Amino acid sequence: MLAVAKGRVPQVSLLRPGIAQISMRKLALATLLASYLTAAAQTADQAWLRYQGYQERTLIPLQVRALGAGLLEQSAAGELKRSIADFAGETAGSTVRAREVFGGETVLGTAEELRKAYPDLPVPADLHPDGYWLYWNGLKGDRCLYVVAGGDQRGVLYGAFALLRHPNTVRRPATGDTLNLHEHPLRSHPAFPIRWVDEWDNPDGTIERGYAGRSIFFEGGNVRPDLAPVAEYGRLLASIGINGLNVNNVNAAPQLLDSDHLKQLARVAGALRPWGVRLAMSVAIASPQTIGGLSTYDPLDPAVKAWWNAKTTEIYDLIPDFAGFTVKADSEGQPGPASYGRTPADAANLLAAALAPHGGLVLYRAFVYNHHLDWRDPKADRARAAYDIFHPLDGKFAANVIIQTKEGPIDFQAQEPVSPLYAGLRQTSQAIELQVTQEYTGQQRHLVYLAPMWKQVLDFDMRVDGAHTLVQRILARKGLAGKAFHQPLGGMVAVAGVGRDRWLGSPLTLANLYAFGRLAWDANLSPEEIAAEWTRQTISTDPQVVRTVTKMLMQSWPAYVNYTGPLGMQTLTDITGSHYGPNIESSERNGWGQWHNADHEGVGMDRSVATGTGFAGQYPPEVAKLYESLATTPDELLLFFHHVPYTYRLHSGKTVIQHIYDSHYDGAAQAAEFARDWASLEGRIDQPLYEDVHNRLVYQAGHAIVWRDAIVQYFLKLSGIPDEKGRAGHYPGRLEAEDARLTGYKVIDIAPWEDASGGKAVSCDEELSDKEKQRSCSAEWTYAGPAGHYNIAVQYFDLQGGVAHFTLKINGQPAAAWAADATLPSNHPNGDNSTRRTVHNIGLKPGDLLRVEGIPDGSDPAALDYIEITPAP
Ligand code: GCU
Repeated sequence: MLAVAKGRVPQVSLLRPGIAQISMRKLALATLLASYLTAAAQTADQAWLRYQGYQERTLIPLQVRALGAGLLEQSAAGELKRSIADFAGETAGSTVRAREVFGGETVLGTAEELRKAYPDLPVPADLHPDGYWLYWNGLKGDRCLYVVAGGDQRGVLYGAFALLRHPNTVRRPATGDTLNLHEHPLRSHPAFPIRWVDEWDNPDGTIERGYAGRSIFFEGGNVRPDLAPVAEYGRLLASIGINGLNVNNVNAAPQLLDSDHLKQLARVAGALRPWGVRLAMSVAIASPQTIGGLSTYDPLDPAVKAWWNAKTTEIYDLIPDFAGFTVKADSEGQPGPASYGRTPADAANLLAAALAPHGGLVLYRAFVYNHHLDWRDPKADRARAAYDIFHPLDGKFAANVIIQTKEGPIDFQAQEPVSPLYAGLRQTSQAIELQVTQEYTGQQRHLVYLAPMWKQVLDFDMRVDGAHTLVQRILARKGLAGKAFHQPLGGMVAVAGVGRDRWLGSPLTLANLYAFGRLAWDANLSPEEIAAEWTRQTISTDPQVVRTVTKMLMQSWPAYVNYTGPLGMQTLTDITGSHYGPNIESSERNGWGQWHNADHEGVGMDRSVATGTGFAGQYPPEVAKLYESLATTPDELLLFFHHVPYTYRLHSGKTVIQHIYDSHYDGAAQAAEFARDWASLEGRIDQPLYEDVHNRLVYQAGHAIVWRDAIVQYFLKLSGIPDEKGRAGHYPGRLEAEDARLTGYKVIDIAPWEDASGGKAVSCDEELSDKEKQRSCSAEWTYAGPAGHYNIAVQYFDLQGGVAHFTLKINGQPAAAWAADATLPSNHPNGDNSTRRTVHNIGLKPGDLLRVEGIPDGSDPAALDYIEITPAP
């Protein structure tokens, strides 16, 4: 997985200012060897910590010394040594050139330790906890000194990683001057005190909404014996400044609180400790009853209180730096204080009291709503729930309670407005909850870089009391300039979903985890800057690679919104099932409240105060006014706030229906562009990485067409209004399977109908005997277009439970054959598993016979939707 182009030997350019280039042939060899040797283990190097591949890094003196003996300082020193291990040994110090480059010393310590050891150095006296200062004394050779000073132990660790990330030359954009750490020491500290990842792992080793294999923490009901990957994860998290990890699903398994499991969890805490990552866990509010043997879990009951106090003390005896509890209660079937007529404040304060003597925190989730809403009630609105429940409790929470709120009022949709609750809690510490794991945004199979969406939320101006109030300033640490509401704590939490398959399953998705950490450190970084920084460390420093990958990442979220659910309609996916492919009506007419209210005349939820659910009125007055009126609501959120006819004209000048058509065609075209962009990098990056990502992007381009066609044909039928560009319902070159001459195949209806072209497909169905199934089914068409060279796309359904095989034949000759061996959601043919295979540059003339043969396997019936013949470019 190393990101070095084949046959190209990396050249380290400037090492330190003024030091000439040296050949890095040896380094390249060592790097390749290292990548093979580590192939079997799950290591942080598989993500962005690839020091050898990162050719822009600052090369520091090989002599590394920590002034203190603290664990984190030792980890920091160890990391610096590891980063230069390849230079040590024979090379180091053996030649004049090597001494020039690697001579001198790299010294780490807390600011206090450094001031004592080097009274003449300008070490700042006021470094914040977790903050750091990086400095070079400006000398070379044996007198060179690099310094990493931390506001505390953690600061030393974060400083070491910052030094390793720091490029050897930083150009000042305005003048082009080169900055160096002598003239420009780097000083940094985090904007948010809480920077946590939440893992939704279950004791049995599965991961709720995880798309990267099984848990690195649990298996078979217990903590895994081998926690090496957990330690590596800790390293990865420390490198981006993450300081807490909540280890288990918010739908919490109560048994994790029993004494045996707590001892096991102490091992997890131990694996993370050297990296400054504190362990937290999700707890079920009913635990005193389910595992404690009490007859109640009423938060005001003295026995319940005593149970939590004792349990918490037991935890701290085992894990003295335990970070705290995350709580999901009264939500989606989880028990909560409502069972006893108590409030979330009663429950949160109960736990807070148990944790306070030990310095622990409660992250109480505001994701509390009724999922049995009456969809006929025009005032019912799930979006209102968090504010309606938590705003009246403002000021009633203990000082160590943080209310953790998802970024939007619904649930991690591709696009939502910012939750109004951030402005609704002025006397309560708050954290934002984001999702790195792409539950509603393509489940890692689609490239969707989420930092631009997060940044929009963090930079949203709530206009509290008519004044500039960015969400990030509400969540910021106390004392940060511009901090709003002055609460003691605050921060950012991301549901990460890492697993054993290369952390996040898909290589480019790692950019989301990286970006989360970087924004949680400094919310003023731009997503583009972060994307480039990640690409340089992870893939290549080749400017063309950095430019192209950054561009792809930056365009990916808007593209996904375009081909899934634009105008604030949310992700139009199967919300009662997979959360993956299109299923527009799954969100309508049920208690879950993710409605978009589409009918023959119009679409959108009226959430205005005047005529709707009143949700818009939950924002501070200036923002409420903006969303109340059709005239001022931004186009991208129009249908979240208003119900309008399809002919309503947007600010862009387009009608709503035309926007639906255009955005889906544009979004699918953008997705196709990503595969082409990536293809332009072949030869410049590691070949296995190239192929892996290329296959994923080709798949995504095909699935974007499934999305496009589903939504376009659905709204065309519902509205009856044609696409003014003539695309909707017209598919040049498409030949439907149900119109073909079929042998064995039977025509079936697809549910939901919009997930197949024309609502129908063919299936080599179950009524065939096993023997018959071994014969293939086939669909045959006679080509009637002009002679020429064509691409032929075969749209089929790739189901789990068997590996069906397909062959495309032209006049009896095989043109392509492939196995349907993907692992996609759902057990019946639909938009979750509809997949496109394109066979390129086939010569065709009128009268040619095109035939697709499908061989079913297990419960995969080799179902087929259509073929599409388009001129080869
Ligand atoms: C979503 C998700 C659930 C999760 C829930 C939560 O609804 O689909 O799997 O439990 O969010 O955040 O609690």
